[in-house]
Amino acid sequence: MILVTGAGGKTGRAVVANLVSRNLPVRAWLRQPFIGFDGADIFVGDLENEADWAIAMQGVEKVYFICPNLHPNETLIGKLALTAARRAKIKHFVYHSVLHPQTHEMPHHWNKLRVEEMVFVSGIPFTILQPATYMQNLLPQWSAIKQRGFLRLPYPARTKLSFVDLQDVAEAAAIVLSDETYVGATLELAGTSALSQSRVAELLTAELNRPVFFEEVSLVDWVEENSKLSVYERDTLLAMFGYYANYGLVGNPAVLGMILDRTPHDLTDFIQSQ
Ligand SMILES: NC(=O)c1ccc[n+]([C@@H]2O[C@H](COP(=O)([O-])OP(=O)(O)OC[C@H]3O[C@@H](n4cnc5c(N)ncnc54)[C@H](OP(=O)(O)O)[C@@H]3O)[C@@H](O)[C@H]2O)c1
Repeated sequence: MILVTGAGGKTGRAVVANLVSRNLPVRAWLRQPFIGFDGADIFVGDLENEADWAIAMQGVEKVYFICPNLHPNETLIGKLALTAARRAKIKHFVYHSVLHPQTHEMPHHWNKLRVEEMVFVSGIPFTILQPATYMQNLLPQWSAIKQRGFLRLPYPARTKLSFVDLQDVAEAAAIVLSDETYVGATLELAGTSALSQSRVAELLTAELNRPVFFEEVSLVDWVEENSKLSVYERDTLLAMFGYYANYGLVGNPAVLGMILDRTPHDLTDFIQSQ
């Protein structure tokens, strides 16, 4: 049995679907019962509750550990996961980290670095996956891009990011979970080289057959438009936007290509698939 945590989020859903499509036994850890997890065993619990971890691990051999996005207690949840995994004698613990966790300026990356260190010293056979920015992050503004022709982001047009298709991440996760040769590896998962946001707008223009312009949203406007975020989420995202603006987030698709044994999806493939 493979336990997938954070299974109700966009990453977890993609990973669970890929594992189920391979007829692998999966337990999806959800915060609340959802429909749409056919073929998976469902566990409903709180990732911050130690007792829930012990129950969730029963009969489990492998874990795909996803921490909820921008969670203020990411290191605590990591510690609970690893303690429970050690007690349950888990054979393979795969940690869904992030590209460049070494960046102190981005708290959610830095927390993942600290969890990676806990993984190293846990004594549990592990693999760490470090995905780049998902192409799917464009989807919340997809209809605005198509209807109004604006790609709106709170960093400059020159900002260079590598992107990855979540479907490729899920496929890589399933491959790694099914193959012991990946034990001990830390693997960067990027699907594209670094693309400026003006290049992203150009690709959208070409593939959607309509002009798409990049618009830099001021941080003041962004805060106003996202007033429902917690203080931690807001401040962490503002730190991320500042880091992106200064340095970008640059990966390389070679490693993902080797895992998938094919060229990863590029942004053009992704736009065409929507
Ligand atoms: N987005 C990217 O580009 C990107 C790139 C690389 C890595 N990542 C990493 O990928 C990870 C997953 O991100 P995501 O956006 O897929 O996650 P997400 O959408 O935030 O999903 C997290 C899920 O966990 C659930 N959850 C939250 N708190 C919980 C708790 N205490 N107990 C049990 N379940 C809880 C949520 O439940 P509810 O639905 O009830 O809220 C949600 O279903 C994050 O660690 C993120 O840093 C993201």
